[in-house]
Amino acid sequence: MTDKTSNQMWGGRFAAGPDAIMEAINASIGFDKRMAAQDIAGSRAHAAMLAATGVISDNDADAIREGLLTVLSEIESGDFVFSTALEDIHMNVEARLKEVIGEPAGRLHTGRSRNDQVATDFKLWVRDQFDAAESGILALIKALLGQAEAGADWVMPGFTHLQTAQPVTWGHHMMAYVEMFGRDLSRVRDARARMNESPLGAAALAGTSFPIDREMTAAALGFDRPAANSLDAVSDRDFALEFLSCASICAMHLSRFAEELVIWSSAQFRFVQLSDRFSTGSSIMPQKKNPDAAELIRAKVGRIFGANTALMMVMKGLPLTYSKDMQEDKEQVFDAADNWMLALAAMEGMVKDMTANQASLAAAAGSGFSTATDLADWLVRVLGLPFRDAHHITGTLVALAESRGCDLPDLSLADMTGVHEGITEDVFTVLGVENSVNSRMSYGGTAPAQVRAQVARWTEMLG
Ligand code: ARG
Repeated sequence: MTDKTSNQMWGGRFAAGPDAIMEAINASIGFDKRMAAQDIAGSRAHAAMLAATGVISDNDADAIREGLLTVLSEIESGDFVFSTALEDIHMNVEARLKEVIGEPAGRLHTGRSRNDQVATDFKLWVRDQFDAAESGILALIKALLGQAEAGADWVMPGFTHLQTAQPVTWGHHMMAYVEMFGRDLSRVRDARARMNESPLGAAALAGTSFPIDREMTAAALGFDRPAANSLDAVSDRDFALEFLSCASICAMHLSRFAEELVIWSSAQFRFVQLSDRFSTGSSIMPQKKNPDAAELIRAKVGRIFGANTALMMVMKGLPLTYSKDMQEDKEQVFDAADNWMLALAAMEGMVKDMTANQASLAAAAGSGFSTATDLADWLVRVLGLPFRDAHHITGTLVALAESRGCDLPDLSLADMTGVHEGITEDVFTVLGVENSVNSRMSYGGTAPAQVRAQVARWTEMLG
């Protein structure tokens, strides 16, 4: 007999229980209890398969499957008492199952190990989060499409280096983010399809001598197929890393949009008004309306990318197969998933609620010599000048307007012909921002007609 204090699940060869510090560093129950539903689903599928293949009796499998439902309802109702001594969710559930159904509980762990069990549970959990991310991204894209459709022809400045570059449309700017989040959506779908192979039945690392049916458990758990190599199945955490890298890239996109909202909602820009529902006040400055949600979304990329880096570092250099290091995978993924979903939902809410200030956008669109390129293009198209010469002439006219403190359309025809004699009255038709954006009809350009075509394409694609 072993000492009563040794672990009831694996203590056979131990004479004494672990030091309190050993127990503290070893336990994962504090966080992996979030995988309780997945653990129980995996065990129920495993038990059914063990009975179907004749490894355990139908009676035992029925008792196990029923008992697991009891345990699940205890956990869901908050009645379950989690034990740190039992390390993790797997052993907590199995120990409680034994209390509930007695001897048959000991047969559940036949032909499997915690190594394939934890990989299965975690995959099921991450798969749900891929699905949640897909819905969150889709909802955000739909909110952006709403903004784009409404403002397909609202002019605003387009920027490079955050300096006014050329006029664009509000709708076009919104659709740029639709493309970005659209790539995030496709990344999430790719990664989800790739990860959907079942580790269950890989057992500790080498497979098992029991005549198990891995196809059966894979199908029961919604996997496309069993993972083909048992060593890989228990040591693979690519799915978690792909999840974190999808999350990181999407959070980076969210942070760029959030930054624009912070800038645009400032008193200096006044491009957008965020709703009261997604802003906060200041406790000392009564006039303030702060874009806190946008700022927090901007910051989330820090912890999400941090999680990605942390798990890469945990996995780097680990020899095959399972090592306890891998228990450090979950908290990173849990935290990143929670914050990714929250950031997506907050961004969706902000986008749905925000109001573009068309007048400020239009005023800004025409300032900063934003139609200088249109002027240069006119010199090329109408007078047949080489673009480099046209660029130089336009630069001279910009400098002239700047010295006068006016914009390009405010120069007189005499000012223009003073710089190049061939310029005619017709040039003024291209100096207005509306004409400028309407002329950008190249595929993917900012012309309202192009923007509407892209909105229609996305709307149809999303069904
Ligand atoms: N709590 C462990 C984890 O999260 C479960 C797997 C334990 N496996 C083992 N061989 N000790 O990774």
